Amino acid sequence: MPYKLLLDCDPGLDDALALLLAHGDPNIELVGVTTVGGNVRLENTTRNALQLREYLGFATVPVSAGAAEPLTRQHRDATHVHGTGGLGSVVLPPATLPVTGIHAADFIINTLKATPGAIHLVATGPLTNIAIALEREPAIARWAASFTIMGGSYTRGNATVAAEFNIWADPEAARIVFDADWQVTMIGLDLTLQAQANGSVVERLTKLGTLADELIVPLATFYFNPKVPDWDGQAVHDVCAVAYVARPDLFLTQPARVDIETRGEFTDGMTVVDFDPPAPNALVATKLDVDGFWAYVETVYARVAAEHS
Ligand code: BDR
Ligand code: CA
Repeated sequence: MPYKLLLDCDPGLDDALALLLAHGDPNIELVGVTTVGGNVRLENTTRNALQLREYLGFATVPVSAGAAEPLTRQHRDATHVHGTGGLGSVVLPPATLPVTGIHAADFIINTLKATPGAIHLVATGPLTNIAIALEREPAIARWAASFTIMGGSYTRGNATVAAEFNIWADPEAARIVFDADWQVTMIGLDLTLQAQANGSVVERLTKLGTLADELIVPLATFYFNPKVPDWDGQAVHDVCAVAYVARPDLFLTQPARVDIETRGEFTDGMTVVDFDPPAPNALVATKLDVDGFWAYVETVYARVAAEHS
């Protein structure tokens, strides 16, 4: 039986690569995509999700748009990373099919409620939709088979010294999500920075043909800067969160207590991680089997690429 997966995302270069993995892995059944304002404004993350759905051919999977703004703060984007449209240099044909018309939070509630314990929820953007869903229906924390996020860090941030982008973009939402009655699997920067699309990875991806030329390689290389120390390639952050659902064997995790800083002068959006807590609320990913990860991802991408050409 494939893992049923609902992806809440803000495409976004690496969100698009995560969608490609969720769509292409035969062990994953993508049951829905919800969008949130994050890397770019909601209208652009939603447009990108709709275009990717038709370009990649998962037209029957519903797409629902959600929150345009964080719970209490102003929207802060990452266009300097993902480009003004959110997909870097990639231009996809306009979508012809619409969103569901149901708010993402309600789509999440309805979908999890319909089959309690069956659907794995993954969030790869700011956690606004998930927090709204939890406030409207706290039982989703019981209904989700698992809940995995790309977000946070137990060392340093990327949006600021202390905070990773998805948490920093809506810290109040992240706090609600980590305080809810479930175990959050946190795939943070410490893990995702191990998943860098370096020269050898890109060389192998390039051989996948049209899909690689039009989508995969431009997404995976758009903001790579070889001058940054310790950077062999662009990290595919969000791909790691989807990969964790189907291939947890590739990840080392540790139980921890994660609290979200919402009032710090220099630390807003920081994930404060205690690896020796009395009451853990999370599993925090620490180590990736890098070769196994790329072997898995490249196999799935090759499968989609073969069908695409
Ligand atoms: C995260 O922030 C976004 O810019 C990426 O899409 C990813 O979800 C990495 O910090
Ligand atoms: Ca993202």
